[in-house]
Amino acid sequence: MKKLSLMMLVASCVFASGSLVAGQSTKEISPYPLGERSILSERAITDRVKPVGSVCVDGEECGTASEEVATGPRSGDEVYGAACAMCHGSGMLNAPRLGVASDWAPRVKKGEATLVKHALEGFNAMPAKGGCGNCSDDEITAAVEHMIESVK
Ligand code: HEC
Repeated sequence: MKKLSLMMLVASCVFASGSLVAGQSTKEISPYPLGERSILSERAITDRVKPVGSVCVDGEECGTASEEVATGPRSGDEVYGAACAMCHGSGMLNAPRLGVASDWAPRVKKGEATLVKHALEGFNAMPAKGGCGNCSDDEITAAVEHMIESVK
């Protein structure tokens, strides 16, 4: 008899907690309407197989990520630090070093326009735009001016 009442107690507990769960609004269990909750539903499957990234074309509404990227032109100093310092800081591959006048003297003689052109288009071991794919022409020009300034 004792066993039976214990079982009934357990059973009623299970029932009570069960109805507690059932008392939850279905919205709290899943944000999706009934037919779309299953992991086998069309919604869940399209969610799973959709591409991880997507390309956002200029002019399209692309959410916030693209807005963060568009922060306006960077200064010559910033562009130098991000894209040029790797070579022009140490003189790697014989790149003219920032602030070293003797490295720059023969180059400055060519005129700023030529130096900018070489920075944009590449020059021997100097890669076009220093390899900076997201640098605008204006930003590269500013970086070249920053380098020339450093030896003035
Ligand atoms: C991978 C290394 C590397 C990076 C990164 C790099 N440069 Fe250079 N750069 C060179 C080398 C090497 C030379 C020397 C080329 C020569 O004279 O043969 C050079 C030369 C130059 C010159 C002189 C060109 C001339 O006509 O004498 C300018 C200006 C210049 N770089 C600007 C930049 C700017 C601006 C950046 C960053 C946006 C940059 N470089 C990033 C390697 C690099």
